[in-house]
Amino acid sequence: MRNVTKDNITDVFMGYLSEDIDPRMGDIMGSLVKHLHAFARETNLTHDEWRMGIAFLEGCAAVETEDRHEFVLASDVLGLSSLVDMLHSTEEATSSSVLGPFHVSGSPPLEVGGDMKRHYGGPILLAEGVIKDVDGNPIAGAELDIWQTAPNGLYASQDNDQDTFSFHGLMTVGEDGKYAFTTVKPVEYTVPTDGPVGDILRACGRHPWRPSHLHFIVTAPGYKSLVTEIFPDDDPYLDQDTVFGVRDDLVMTYVQKPPSEFPEGMALSKGINEPFLHVKFDVILATA
Ligand code: BEZ
Ligand code: FE
Repeated sequence: MRNVTKDNITDVFMGYLSEDIDPRMGDIMGSLVKHLHAFARETNLTHDEWRMGIAFLEGCAAVETEDRHEFVLASDVLGLSSLVDMLHSTEEATSSSVLGPFHVSGSPPLEVGGDMKRHYGGPILLAEGVIKDVDGNPIAGAELDIWQTAPNGLYASQDNDQDTFSFHGLMTVGEDGKYAFTTVKPVEYTVPTDGPVGDILRACGRHPWRPSHLHFIVTAPGYKSLVTEIFPDDDPYLDQDTVFGVRDDLVMTYVQKPPSEFPEGMALSKGINEPFLHVKFDVILATA
């Protein structure tokens, strides 16, 4: 097409898509460009605004490293990551939630009943539950990859004062599907704001806070892997998580208990002399 106009450019683009390409690629590119063009028309996008958008993408690329994923963070604060999660969640299974940029591979083993907080102080949290299938049967041998921030609100990869794997653990459950561990109650924290995503948050008048949460990836052969997290029901940011990760079934009551009720058989059982918080969170995995 030689006479491209503002009215026909979207159709001209569609016409440029070859019939030989993967049909899904054609659908995605066609829809993406249709919505991009509609966005430019709807906002009457100016050259300066277009340049700002390009500068944002270039800024994300400039700060991107192995440990810093600014494009993923942008997707998170725009709600795209959570929307994709929800589009593909399984009704009967536990809700999934954002992975975030701070998961690391190779976490050290944490035995059932183990302690993830080690020498760190703060309110002790005992988390436990059962990994089940959709019919309520325990899933023997399921694996939980667990991670959270230290009490200073930083993940190990953000903080030179922590070991690589502090507050990270990998637990394999037994025949009964039960997991249990102790940690420090996670704190609310802000997503990184020193890059272009921080600029966008500020420009939109948005805060960068996430409610306190404990991350899990739960896997078992024959089941869909689940990336999820749990939140305490008294957190002030529950209704305004900056990455849209909160789902009703992931909000838990953390019950305050006296030291006398701490269960036997855990790494911390001997010598516990302070009240602790207790959360029970059963995880339901869908069949693959
Ligand atoms: C996190 O929970 O670790 C996280 C999720 C999305 C963006 C930043 C952090
Ligand atoms: Fe997190």
